[in-house]
Amino acid sequence: MHPHIAALPDDHLLRVLVREHDVIRRWLGELESAVVCLEGASEATRPECIRRVLDAVERMRRTDLHRRREELVVYPACLDVSFDEVATALEGEHAEMKQKLAALTDEARAIAPSPAATFDRLLGAMRSFRFVYDNHMYKEDRVVFPLLANAIRDEGVWRRLHVEAMNCGALLDQEDV
Ligand SMILES: [Fe+2]
Ligand SMILES: [Fe+2]
Repeated sequence: MHPHIAALPDDHLLRVLVREHDVIRRWLGELESAVVCLEGASEATRPECIRRVLDAVERMRRTDLHRRREELVVYPACLDVSFDEVATALEGEHAEMKQKLAALTDEARAIAPSPAATFDRLLGAMRSFRFVYDNHMYKEDRVVFPLLANAIRDEGVWRRLHVEAMNCGALLDQEDV
C-alpha cells in the first residue's frame, strides 16, 4: 500500500476503495482459474467448469458499484482540485472496462452450447478484461489516490464524500468476506 494511503484512517474512503481493489483482484484471479479449469476439462468436468466461469463473470458484474462510487464521487473530487486530465483518463478506462466486461459476458454465455469453438474467444476476452482492470487499479492505488489524499486534507470533505460513495450500495455480500 502506498504510504500516503497507509497513513489514512482505516475507514477513510480511499482506504475503502483500495480494499475493494483487493477484493476485485481476488475475483479476477478466480475468474482466470475458472477459465483455465474449462480449458483442461473433460466431458465429465466441463459442466462444473462452465458453471464456475458463469458465476465468476456474474460476480465481476457487481464491480459496477465500485466504478459508480468513483465516477459519482471520487472523479468529481479530482476535478475540484484541478486533476481534470486524470479524471477524464480514468473515466475513459472505466468505459473500456465496461465494454470489455460486456464482451466477456457475451463470450461466457455463449460457451455452453459450443465449448470447443468458443473457448479461445472466452480466454482472449478474459485476459483483455483482466489486463485493463489490473492496470487501472494499479494507477488508482499507486498514483491517483495518493495524490488526491495529498490534495484534499479537509477531513470534513472526506466524511461527506464517504457518505455519498457508500450511498451507491455495498460491493460485498456476507459470503464474499
Ligand atoms: Fe476506477
Ligand atoms: Fe477503483
